[in-house]
Amino acid sequence: MNKNTGGRLAQETIELTENKRISGSYFRLRAACGVHYAKAAAGQFVTLRLLDQTEPLLRRPFSIHQVNIGSNGIPEIEILYRVVGGFTSKLSRQPAGSRLDLLGPLGHGFTVTAHTRPAAVVAGGIGVAPLVFLVWQLKLAGMDPDLITVFLGGQTRSDILCRDRFEHMGVRTKNTTEDGSLGFHGLVTTSLETWLKTADPAMIYACGPHGMLMAVGKIARSANTACELSIETLMACGLGVCMGCAVKTRSSGEGFEHVCKHGPVFDAAALV
Ligand SMILES: Cc1cc2nc3c(=O)[nH]c(=O)nc-3n(C[C@H](O)[C@H](O)[C@H](O)COP(=O)(O)OP(=O)(O)OC[C@H]3O[C@@H](n4cnc5c(N)ncnc54)[C@H](O)[C@@H]3O)c2cc1C
Ligand code: FES
Repeated sequence: MNKNTGGRLAQETIELTENKRISGSYFRLRAACGVHYAKAAAGQFVTLRLLDQTEPLLRRPFSIHQVNIGSNGIPEIEILYRVVGGFTSKLSRQPAGSRLDLLGPLGHGFTVTAHTRPAAVVAGGIGVAPLVFLVWQLKLAGMDPDLITVFLGGQTRSDILCRDRFEHMGVRTKNTTEDGSLGFHGLVTTSLETWLKTADPAMIYACGPHGMLMAVGKIARSANTACELSIETLMACGLGVCMGCAVKTRSSGEGFEHVCKHGPVFDAAALV
């Protein structure tokens, strides 16, 4: 199991400095946060609550999209989110200056190391959220950006997010849309399989919808390549106490592990 747990956990009130639509139903927020986020690991997540929140009752989980350290040494957290229901729709209407309750960093992140062979980073839609931070940390660890290929997949062109961020970091992106409106017409996993015919990667990292993740895990197994998947489940407590997020893993002797505590990043080979 991955053990990249980054900084310590804390609950705090943050004030939004920005909260804006970046494409279709996707928004990005920024806010100054506690200094412990300087040690957050890519793949870790936070839970959010609106201060006046009566509905929905539960905090909602979101990946850490980026942590920027300002010239004053104070970290700023970024969260990229898609409006899908009650909480995210209320969140999208919060103007700069609104206050939120933030709890994190939570869970285990990706293995970050300066791979000397290529790495594939595969994103399905909003699954790109933790992968910008991952690529940034791989570069910080000393990995040559030429060795990193990011596969961005979505149903249509407005689901292809953060290309500018990746290009700014000097990594190659390959875009795939199911309706052919941008890049390769088809599934992101087909694009990954084509690339694997000529590449010999050290690692495949992925985050996205369940079906995509299962397909990426299967492709990695046939290519005999190490693979880490960031998975999503519905979460109630986010702290390992309610069993709401249990998944079956081999590392627990075919028993269950909690996505919020032992994940959300798992070795693909460990997932049943
Ligand atoms: C570890 C983790 C990291 C996440 N990171 C991000 C992120 O960076 N950006 C982002 O936009 N979203 C992320 N999510 C999903 C996010 O938590 C949900 O979209 C959010 O809680 C929906 O709240 P809501 O009240 O707006 O929608 P709800 O009204 O609760 O749900 C609307 C619809 O979305 C479905 N849904 C809700 N939560 C999930 C989920 N976790 N997985 C699959 N379907 C779900 C519901 O079944 C329902 O159909 C993450 C989830 C987890 C577990
Ligand atoms: S969400 Fe409660 S145990 Fe994971």
